[in-house]
Amino acid sequence: MSAHPTLPPGRFGDLVGIPLPVVQGPFGGGLSSVELAAAVSEGGGLGSYGAHVHTPEEITALVAGLRAATGRPFAVNLWVPQEGEAEARRAPESVLAGHVERLRPYYEELGVRAPSAEDVRSWPDFDAQLDALIAAAPPVISLVMGLPPRRLVTEARRRGIVVVGTATTVEEAVALEAAGVDAVVASGSDAGGHRGAFLRPVRESLVGTFSLIPQVADAVSVPVVAAGGIADGRGVAAALALGADAVQVGTGFLAARESGASEAHRRILGTPEARTTVLTRLFSGRTARGIPNGFVRDMAAHEEHVPPYPVQNALMQPVRRAAAEQGRPEYVNLWAGQAAALAQEPSAAAYLSALVEQAAGAAG
Ligand SMILES: Cc1cc2nc3c(=O)[nH]c(=O)nc-3n(C[C@H](O)[C@H](O)[C@H](O)COP(=O)(O)O)c2cc1C
Repeated sequence: MSAHPTLPPGRFGDLVGIPLPVVQGPFGGGLSSVELAAAVSEGGGLGSYGAHVHTPEEITALVAGLRAATGRPFAVNLWVPQEGEAEARRAPESVLAGHVERLRPYYEELGVRAPSAEDVRSWPDFDAQLDALIAAAPPVISLVMGLPPRRLVTEARRRGIVVVGTATTVEEAVALEAAGVDAVVASGSDAGGHRGAFLRPVRESLVGTFSLIPQVADAVSVPVVAAGGIADGRGVAAALALGADAVQVGTGFLAARESGASEAHRRILGTPEARTTVLTRLFSGRTARGIPNGFVRDMAAHEEHVPPYPVQNALMQPVRRAAAEQGRPEYVNLWAGQAAALAQEPSAAAYLSALVEQAAGAAG
């Protein structure tokens, strides 16, 4: 081992078998990469991959790819469906056509085909995704936006898979523990990307990270992983001091060159522009935190009218993809947490070492 100051693995590190109490948060929507997850796992943290947009076949191949890239533990993450979403997906074509019309200027601007009703209806089904993931048996399965189905907990115990749930409130953390998760990510409202609230509406579940951590640590006995607004060693040390067993860093790792984020997205993280973030449903139909851009401002009046996930997500997918490919940040979903301006743009390994060394130094 190096002579640099380090942190002990703690209860979460011991649970999943990693030497450092640091998780690279999963990124959905194609922003994760095998390279990033493997670099973090090889560095002693827990690399993660967000797989909610993937088909069951892609999930099987993904887990094989992660296994080939690292012999260390890693996590794969899925989104639990929420009420009303299955119905939204089956909405009549006339209703879908109305939602497409709202976005037509953006399809035309970016030169992409508007999605068909079939594109929306064929969005991957959670139960099929979960079956494929359980069969592939990654070392850790993490979920967001709901409770783990019973069969996941049973099968995970049988196969030695660690199950991690995500809470945005104390009551969600307690419900997750009762449902049988092995650890809870306590995701404060500072965090970048989607809000995971599932017991109450998002607006009633916006607890800041530093308020949430000690209360969740007091309320559950499983290990607690602090997420949201942690982007340097000072944040890591503070979260551990507040009772977290480990930290989950998202935006900071998104800025690393190995991440799947577009250059337009990575370039803006770490700049003064990234000091302002907003919560918006416009890109996916579920509420997420990101840097406001032209699309968010132009569509602000439609916040309440866009359809739920996965409909809006499927309708926006061609816009998000084309904008990222064409380097048009005004149409990219610029997900970022409230500490995004602290993010640098080094390699994942260098960033992980800096987080740990600075935190160990700060802890004295
Ligand atoms: C671009 C992006 C995508 C994300 N996608 C997911 C996801 O699919 N599933 C999930 O559980 N968390 C997701 N998150 C949350 C992160 O895993 C992590 O908990 C969060 O980013 C921590 O807060 P921070 O961004 O302030 O570091 C995402 C975050 C970002 C920035």
